Amino acid sequence: MREPIQWIRNDMPREVAAGMLALFSDEEKAKIRAFHESFPQYEATPLVHLPALSEKLGIGGLYVKDESYRFGLNSFKVLGGTYAVGKYVASRLGKDISQISYETFLAPETKEAVGEITFYTVTDGNHGRGVAWAANKLGQKSVVRMPRGSAQARVENIRAEGADVEVTELNYDDAIRALARQAESDPNGVLVQDTDWKGYEQIPSWILQGYSTVAAEAHEQLEAYGIWKPTHIFVQAGVGAFAGSVQGYFASIYGEDCPVTTVVEATAANCHYRSALAGHRVAVGGDLATIMAGLACGEACGISWDILKNNARFFASCSDWVTALGMRMLGAPLKGDTRIISGESGAVTAGLVSAVMTDEANRDFREALGLGPESIVLVVSTEGDTDPDRYRDITWNGFCASTEK
Ligand SMILES: Cc1ncc(COP(=O)(O)O)c(C=O)c1O
Repeated sequence: MREPIQWIRNDMPREVAAGMLALFSDEEKAKIRAFHESFPQYEATPLVHLPALSEKLGIGGLYVKDESYRFGLNSFKVLGGTYAVGKYVASRLGKDISQISYETFLAPETKEAVGEITFYTVTDGNHGRGVAWAANKLGQKSVVRMPRGSAQARVENIRAEGADVEVTELNYDDAIRALARQAESDPNGVLVQDTDWKGYEQIPSWILQGYSTVAAEAHEQLEAYGIWKPTHIFVQAGVGAFAGSVQGYFASIYGEDCPVTTVVEATAANCHYRSALAGHRVAVGGDLATIMAGLACGEACGISWDILKNNARFFASCSDWVTALGMRMLGAPLKGDTRIISGESGAVTAGLVSAVMTDEANRDFREALGLGPESIVLVVSTEGDTDPDRYRDITWNGFCASTEK
């Protein structure tokens, strides 16, 4: 039995939270981009147009940004971790981020000036890999903790960056609380977390900024396809920092005339959807059991929630079958379309677009969205096969946790 897709229109009163959008001023955006472009690993990831699939689904164009190509790390997440670490190092050196580059990261004088640092973070895999990667480049240490049930392949990828990594018995949000205490008791400790709480806002806001390189590239690439503006954006959320970044970036470009953005979550961890229902931020606790490991976060980041609450148009909650569908669709494309290897947290938005366009059960949602032959849809495949065994289990063997209970 397939659990239906749940959705809600954002009817929350808009507050003027323009302060958050200052994160994406032209000046800030230029600095973020210049920082990432200074990395030798930097190359814009492909924005893939899938004409055959678009036609089959009955939309004007489906454009998928393929983040499996990012820095050879198989996910966009490194963009946030590197930018936050870069901003932190800049502040320790008394410099502006525009004076910091990859060269500065490698320079022995940087390590001499900042001394020993241990970067702490909790991750389901991708964020921690990015932070460990950045720490490694700086010649610094990293301590990475993971929620219970984390995949061994993801643990090994982080260990390969020299991190002290352990899988805990806690869920994502509880693991953060535990590690934050540990980082605080370490005089050289710096927590690089992708969510915020009172008194801990600066680093998460840098992470949000760092992710905006994805949106900036997509914006340019759409223009190269002759598209000035997509009509719809579907963006997946765990803590919501990525969705907030994408929404913040596009709101900074198009203002009130922004594409219709839908925030997409795993039903097991649908804190944004439930917050939209409640009209205020609410948390989801417990196991957060979903194959979408990157989206298994039960507490929304406050900075991004402010952006989403005021700008996103819909919130949707999807069971695992939706992302399994997206993974298979992108991995086994129609003739002429490009193949995209999209992992469990990467494919849910493509799966959702397909289910909304093809299943009459979703007619209401389709009509509310106004999706049809004129629509230009942007989604981001945020990861490749970061857990290759699970990827094959889903795409080859049809494994799909939430329908197999
Ligand atoms: C592949 C992937 N996509 C999306 C997300 C969601 O990002 P956020 O937690 O910022 O909402 C994550 C988070 O780890 C992820 O790993």
